[in-house]
Amino acid sequence: MNLKFENIKQNNAHMNQDNSVQEIYHKKNIGLNNSPSQVVENGKNCLHSFRDLSRLFEKRFNVSHFPKEPEKLYDAAQHLLTAGGKRIRPVMCLMGNEMFEEIKEDAYYVAVAIELFHNFTLIHDDIMDKAPLRRGMETVHTKYGESTALLAGDVMLVTGYESLQKVHIDYLPRILSLFNKTAKEVCEGQQLDMDFEKTPDVSFDDYVKMITLKTSVALAASLQLGAILGGAGKGNQEHLYEFGKNLGIAFQVQDDYLDAFGDPEKFGKKQGGDIMANKKTFLLLQAMKVLSAVQQKELDRILSIKDESKIQPVLDIYKSCNIDQWAKELKHKYFSIAMDHLEETAVVSSRKKPLEELALFLIERDM
Ligand code: IPE
Ligand code: IPE
Ligand code: MG
Ligand code: MG
Ligand code: MG
Repeated sequence: MNLKFENIKQNNAHMNQDNSVQEIYHKKNIGLNNSPSQVVENGKNCLHSFRDLSRLFEKRFNVSHFPKEPEKLYDAAQHLLTAGGKRIRPVMCLMGNEMFEEIKEDAYYVAVAIELFHNFTLIHDDIMDKAPLRRGMETVHTKYGESTALLAGDVMLVTGYESLQKVHIDYLPRILSLFNKTAKEVCEGQQLDMDFEKTPDVSFDDYVKMITLKTSVALAASLQLGAILGGAGKGNQEHLYEFGKNLGIAFQVQDDYLDAFGDPEKFGKKQGGDIMANKKTFLLLQAMKVLSAVQQKELDRILSIKDESKIQPVLDIYKSCNIDQWAKELKHKYFSIAMDHLEETAVVSSRKKPLEELALFLIERDM
């Protein structure tokens, strides 16, 4: 991983310095580190880094979740889990928990449920987006067919609820209520995402609303679920939720950017998938905003092409619109709001380190 901090300020020379990640980084006194791998010393306590927590989570998650038969159904479900993933959401749940107390067993049950839920959404999302590749492998529906993929997603969701069901009864109603609210919001966001494919006049605010629902609430809830189990007060829960939500917006902005300009080898998805599916990403909205009327018409014409020959011309147009700069400004805006909420969270600053490092990783990631 290369976070390229040293380049960020240089690349943003014309930007308001307060908005650059490096400035936010220094102002908030976040320790420089090339990856979220640091263990944070805090008196007697030792908070785990992202890397440690993903190892701990992987030990719990890397077990057989499904029975053997029917083979095709469970092979399909296992296919995506075996392909890995960054495990951001379950780690955020563990971090939200550890910010307030030692990680408890219940946090692992919830983390497992969150990751299973996430993988369920990915299987269904790849059907909706007609995506051929995920995590560098064939998507579940490409390999096993759409009907089996739908069922593999369904059974994964239910398996997630089985894990949730193990949470102590003192916490279960609150955990279920936030989990279910979030799951419904993800469905709403996914519907908007598809509706927008066919809506000509999507505004930037519509886009932010859509990505908040489909993506960022899941990151926000992961943190809050962990915090609930850690006994956090309402105020802290809300700040962590807002931190996760704004970070999640920056995270989806980066996802949209990587869909166009990422290295498919690292990103694991087909380059230009969003262009093929006519997704209303910030790249398209921004291009439409800055292009002349004639250029807009030309972009519309290219977008109406049905085959892959449209990808490169659209990428060229994006490049000509200085989209890299816009992506950075957008990510930094939401990153900064996120960091303000983290700052407001009432725990000693050393307990915030893992989340600060995670935030930096998420907005600069190339995977
Ligand atoms: C992909 O999420 C779906 C989005 C919300 C962008 P991740 O980028 O966390 O996917 P994995 O789990 O690491 O593969
Ligand atoms: C998907 O957004 C969000 C959910 C799965 C809920 P994307 O469609 O951008 O995710 P990727 O790029 O396919 O992972
Ligand atoms: Mg998709
Ligand atoms: Mg999608
Ligand atoms: Mg995407």
